[in-house]
Amino acid sequence: MVTNLALLGAGRIGKVHAKAIAEDKRAKLVAVADAFADAANAIAETSGCAVRTIDEIEADQSIHAVVICTPTNTHADLIERFARAGKAIFCEKPIDLDVARAAACVEAVKKTGAKVMLGFNRRFDPHFRAVRQAIDDGKIGKVEMVTITSRDPGPPPAEYVKVSGGIFRDMTIHDFDMARFLLGEEVVSVMATASVLVDPKIGELGDYDSASLILTTASGRQCVISNSRRASYGYDQRIEVHGSLGSVSAENQRPVSIEIATKDGYTRPPLHDFFMTRYTAAYAAEISAFIDALEKGTAPSPSAEDGLIALTLADAAVQSVQKGAAVRVSI
Ligand SMILES: NC(=O)c1ccc[n+]([C@@H]2O[C@H](COP(=O)([O-])OP(=O)(O)OC[C@H]3O[C@@H](n4cnc5c(N)ncnc54)[C@H](O)[C@@H]3O)[C@@H](O)[C@H]2O)c1
Repeated sequence: MVTNLALLGAGRIGKVHAKAIAEDKRAKLVAVADAFADAANAIAETSGCAVRTIDEIEADQSIHAVVICTPTNTHADLIERFARAGKAIFCEKPIDLDVARAAACVEAVKKTGAKVMLGFNRRFDPHFRAVRQAIDDGKIGKVEMVTITSRDPGPPPAEYVKVSGGIFRDMTIHDFDMARFLLGEEVVSVMATASVLVDPKIGELGDYDSASLILTTASGRQCVISNSRRASYGYDQRIEVHGSLGSVSAENQRPVSIEIATKDGYTRPPLHDFFMTRYTAAYAAEISAFIDALEKGTAPSPSAEDGLIALTLADAAVQSVQKGAAVRVSI
């Protein structure tokens, strides 16, 4: 059976997911809704789907699932609404910026039994998946320490920062999820320090642009996260996992993997410019995993609960910076 999907929100990430759906023969994008008609029309033209309202999509029994790519402040309401309507849901991260609202959403979804997958795309990056596979295969023994370097090429505009929820809920949230994906144990303590080193406007808005974090699990496993809103050399995304028998790492990716050697030294082409190009394969694989789960009737992963936990860790990081001390979390 072909899974009929509708896209809510036809902006930056909505376009990426529409393309991934079009490339998966097991699914069909049948409808798109967007508050901005031109955005919906553009996707309808390229994919051949219909432009519909959210109400129409909700009422249409032939639509099995929705892919929510609207702004963050609409996610919790839309998840609850479509869960009640009996549809499966893929929703972009985060569920909400407020942990209590996100928790209420997760509870409401549980009551309906709806399948919900959250868009932590990095779990589907082939390089990071290979890191996890090496761990699962026992290649590095028992995981002891994880190091995640995650730096954006440049700071976002002030308008974005204002509604982003701050660096921990907006940017580090992906790293919290990746830390859990690799640590193999839940985090019990978050210690964070943050400053404004890149753009004073970010500081004026009450946010930070540079952060270092240490997460610890109950057995003492550690994860160090380094975040910056600036990397002059491109989108810096690296991971290393150190274990009892060795370590496994995923280095930065480039659009072209060559190295030029001359008498002056070695040079390589620049890194990917940002997430749209760096994580192209991951975005396609996560939509494919969602469709796979719907086809097989299994629970999609990462779940709404994973989204709530990442947000809980982000809140702990905010508190840790304010207190200047580690913050205990119980998940
Ligand atoms: N996982 C990732 O790597 C990743 C990357 C980018 C964005 N995101 C998330 O995806 C979401 C969307 O981000 P974006 O960058 O695509 O934003 P965007 O502004 O480019 O697109 C949002 C779209 O939603 C439409 N919209 C706004 N309110 C609406 C409503 N009430 N009903 C229907 N349509 C509405 C807008 O017209 C716009 O076309 C955000 O929550 C963001 O955090 C995740």
